[in-house]
Amino acid sequence: MVKKIIVGVGGASGIRLALRFIQEVQKHSVCHIILSESAQVVWQKEANRDLIEDIKAQGGNLYEEREIWAGIASGSFGADMMALIPTSMNLLAKIAWGIGDELISRCASVMIKERKTLLLAPREMPFSSIALENMLKLANLGVIVAPPVLGYYAKIQTLEEMEDFLVGKWLDVLGFENQLYARWSGE
Ligand SMILES: Cc1cc2nc3c(=O)[nH]c(=O)nc-3n(C[C@H](O)[C@H](O)[C@H](O)COP(=O)(O)O)c2cc1C
Repeated sequence: MVKKIIVGVGGASGIRLALRFIQEVQKHSVCHIILSESAQVVWQKEANRDLIEDIKAQGGNLYEEREIWAGIASGSFGADMMALIPTSMNLLAKIAWGIGDELISRCASVMIKERKTLLLAPREMPFSSIALENMLKLANLGVIVAPPVLGYYAKIQTLEEMEDFLVGKWLDVLGFENQLYARWSGE
């Protein structure tokens, strides 16, 4: 059966990673994509582009954070998993403290209560102890905390290859087969 995945896009740096992740994960699943308002601002500032238009060009079901009435906001929707790429410190804190005042944090809370897979990709540098405590709390609840941390063992030459390495690692952890980076062979 094709998996139903919710992808949240938070207002942290690295929206390019979200676009690349969505492009790949759609090959394996039916994708429901939620954009935070800040994500749209960040994409405008970082790339001078319109995030809604760019996501629409990739397909999938698109939601804005205010659409709290959407079917995906309910456990009865039966989403298999959710990934929040990138995760802002704001969304991280809301999720860690059970706040669900817009669609992304609401869906994340639903994944936790339904014991479904939730992957967060927190993006900040450095992390404060508040953020680290929030991550620890969520990791102890079974949430996958997978920040975009660079790795150099895959013989990476370009930014695009590094982005594919990160997206490939996220797909790995969610159980989607991919060949986005060269795996470590011991040589
Ligand atoms: C260009 C830009 C880059 C930002 N990068 C980050 C970031 O990497 N991490 C973060 O936590 N917040 C970052 N912020 C701040 C968030 O966008 C801000 O806290 C916002 O309220 C988060 O909203 P959201 O959690 O609803 O997406 C950035 C803001 C701008 C304008």
